[in-house]
Amino acid sequence: MKKVGVAILGLGVVGAGTYGILTDKKQYFANAQKLDVTVEAVLETRKERALSLGVPASILCENISEIVSDPAVDIVVECIGGEEPALSFLKSALKNGKTCVTSNKEVFSKHWHELQEIAQKNDSDIYFEASCMGGVPVVRVLCEAMQANHIQKIAGVINGTTNYVLTKMEEGFSFADALLGAQEKGYAEANPKADVEGYDSTYKLCILAGLAFHTKITVDQISRKGITEIDQKDVAAAKAMGYSMKLLAVAKRTAKGIEARVEPALVKKEHPVAAVSDCFNALSIVGDSVGEVVLTGRGAGAAPTGSAIVSDVIFAAKKGAHSYYEFFAEGKTDKISAEVTAGHYFRFATSAPDAVLAKIVPALSKCGATVNNVWREDGELCVITAEATLSAVNKALAKLNLKDCTLVSHYCVEAVGE
Ligand code: HSE
Repeated sequence: MKKVGVAILGLGVVGAGTYGILTDKKQYFANAQKLDVTVEAVLETRKERALSLGVPASILCENISEIVSDPAVDIVVECIGGEEPALSFLKSALKNGKTCVTSNKEVFSKHWHELQEIAQKNDSDIYFEASCMGGVPVVRVLCEAMQANHIQKIAGVINGTTNYVLTKMEEGFSFADALLGAQEKGYAEANPKADVEGYDSTYKLCILAGLAFHTKITVDQISRKGITEIDQKDVAAAKAMGYSMKLLAVAKRTAKGIEARVEPALVKKEHPVAAVSDCFNALSIVGDSVGEVVLTGRGAGAAPTGSAIVSDVIFAAKKGAHSYYEFFAEGKTDKISAEVTAGHYFRFATSAPDAVLAKIVPALSKCGATVNNVWREDGELCVITAEATLSAVNKALAKLNLKDCTLVSHYCVEAVGE
């Protein structure tokens, strides 16, 4: 039977989940995969934590060089998170010919191409299924199951913490209490700002859009807005109009280039992406051959993310030869458009909603943003429009010079799956 030696770097939530699966299911992997998978080393300075998780003291290491020089280690699993020292450790492992598996979306989104180059030069490889959407096998689906397609659009909820927080807020919890719950359950990043301010989703979207469009997209080409400024009034108005507010990650091909953004947006209640609650993620992928595919499942947590890591360990161990992702725009970036093409939700505070409506409906129609949903309550007027560019819509509204009316909020309304 093929022997596979694994080293785990970091025993946080994900590292601990991975260690548990690899040790508990050792016999199962021998039976089902014909692999003898053994955890040969664990890099963790918190000795007490490691021992409490059942890690034998004999395999505990404090120095990365012990691991990368150990001939018994074939696969290095990086679960440290953040940029450093994770990046240096990955580079060192790849340079020493070790196969790497990472759940680290920050390091992978920012250094993917450099890491892949090092892997290619050193006859090694790097796998990153666990970097996006926790236990949902999205990387493998995009790369191994949808090759027949030109992907047109990906859109969905790809951060478990913010989805948990928004779900709990809908149940009446405060933002702070909801976030505490996500931290206690092990969903949130070490610094939860990464979740609630949208960075985590941005890193993941950068990876997923790169895979979907075979192009190099950098993290800073993705526009980002988190959930900290969402007003409950907009959540309630959206609900009344038949929509859910989600922290949505969207990347799509448009006539002007690829649009990529992470922001709170409205999704029609009937769509499966609107229906995910708790830490669940859901991604809609639209391909020109297959149409829409929706993937959903637990997007965070020890065992779900450990599931994705272990699947990479087994996939890597069974793979005959290395293969590397192709980018059509090798060495440069494809055109990324800063335009926002979507439906639009506007909330106005006004004492004269009928007069405002009478002015904005024809003006918005002229630029294609036909108003198709109106809701009013206590001096507030909300409208939802058909798809149009935000620049055209803003121009049309600015020209009107509306009196007795303040624009309070704007969100995109995303036609997920179309
Ligand atoms: N903090 C991340 C989330 C963990 O909440 O989705 C999984 O990547």
